[in-house]
Amino acid sequence: MNQDDKKRQAAEAAISQIEPGISLGVGTGSTVNFFIDALAGHALNLTTVVSSSEASTEKLQNLGVEVSDLASAGDLDVYVDGADEATKHLHLIKGGGGALTREKILAGASRKFICIIDDSKLMGILGRFPLPVEVIPMAQSFVARQLIKAGGQPIWRTGFVTDNGNHILDVHNLSIPNPLEVENRLNQIPGVVTVGIFAQRHADVLLVGGDNGVREMR
Ligand code: 5RP
Repeated sequence: MNQDDKKRQAAEAAISQIEPGISLGVGTGSTVNFFIDALAGHALNLTTVVSSSEASTEKLQNLGVEVSDLASAGDLDVYVDGADEATKHLHLIKGGGGALTREKILAGASRKFICIIDDSKLMGILGRFPLPVEVIPMAQSFVARQLIKAGGQPIWRTGFVTDNGNHILDVHNLSIPNPLEVENRLNQIPGVVTVGIFAQRHADVLLVGGDNGVREMR
């Protein structure tokens, strides 16, 4: 089974956990795109749908799903999103698609966070995937120097501007055995908007698509 089939399986398993009539947050990325495609085929009569990116909003609207903003929606029942890496503790690295800030906001605003991945993303320790950090543009060099002091090698994601008008530094070679502590520490650097570690607000359910079907971890 190829990676896309595994992502699709995980996305479809998430659909089966969505109760009719709930308010739903939708993440960003290729795995979530499978979820959005599946969502459009189900008459779930969702109260509200909120999206974590301009890209997902456009895809949802093209499929006829009305998208609300978080301010009018209030707290959400369920948030569904992918990840770049995940551990058995349901700690994540996110932000490969650059939508990490709005993703962290929606995850924080949701009662339940369902994360959908293929099995290549399940790790013992986070950090093989370069850690995305969203930064205020004028602080970029300063933040990069602090990230080097923290032991990483930040690379500017050239030419990429987030939906919030900010830049991304992808931090290579940062082993993250203690995600909560690293998330807290990097969050303290002035100019950092969002660190792509989701440990404080980790997933509640991890659906992992693999050769033998979808494994659910809680
Ligand atoms: C976007 C994200 C995505 O969830 C993450 O990059 C995974 O993407 P994909 O499903 O395409 O592998 O965090 O900011």
